Amino acid sequence: MSKAARNAILEPLINETDLHAGISQLVDRIADDFDGDELYVIGLLRGSFMFTADLVRLLYRRNVRLVIDFMTVASYGAGTESSGRVDMMRDIHIDLAGKPVLLVDDILDTGRTLDFACRHLAAFNPASLKTCVFLDKPSRRVVPFEANYVGFTVPDLFVAGYGLDYDGRYRELPHLSVVAGGEV
Ligand code: IMP
Ligand code: MG
Repeated sequence: MSKAARNAILEPLINETDLHAGISQLVDRIADDFDGDELYVIGLLRGSFMFTADLVRLLYRRNVRLVIDFMTVASYGAGTESSGRVDMMRDIHIDLAGKPVLLVDDILDTGRTLDFACRHLAAFNPASLKTCVFLDKPSRRVVPFEANYVGFTVPDLFVAGYGLDYDGRYRELPHLSVVAGGEV
């Protein structure tokens, strides 16, 4: 573990109860919008793994049938600053042509990742393409981008937990914390 990650202080921001209540409301909206359709859910790895897992289980309970795949893109280095470049690391392996697609990510920050991922998926000619993020940090936007479904809007703080990492750590936290005292 890096010195920065070792010295980081984590302060709870969204506890598990509030987190699940927010996601549940989000799922109600998605389920209403996709009533009757088989929805193609694409999770962006690695940050959205926990959010996607909870989301799809709740959608199942709302009787939304799903096809699930994952895509890995990389936009961040080890610290808290974006590299500004997005690379495709692992593409999807299903056909999206003519299908309703929901792209899921952990956090919408500068907007570069989702902008890149949406352009990539749009090239497969889906019937519709919507985006769902656990968190939105609108103050950090570099590329204009709005997600269709947002769990929580957060201020300009570096957060970790519930899938989001700080220097590869803390993804396993079942709640969301603010990282303080770490160095980049
Ligand atoms: P964007 O391309 O700047 O919108 O960044 C999106 C990606 O940056 C997310 O999928 C996260 O992996 C990472 N990221 C942005 N802000 C945070 C944060 O506060 N904590 C952890 N990861 C973050
Ligand atoms: Mg990510």
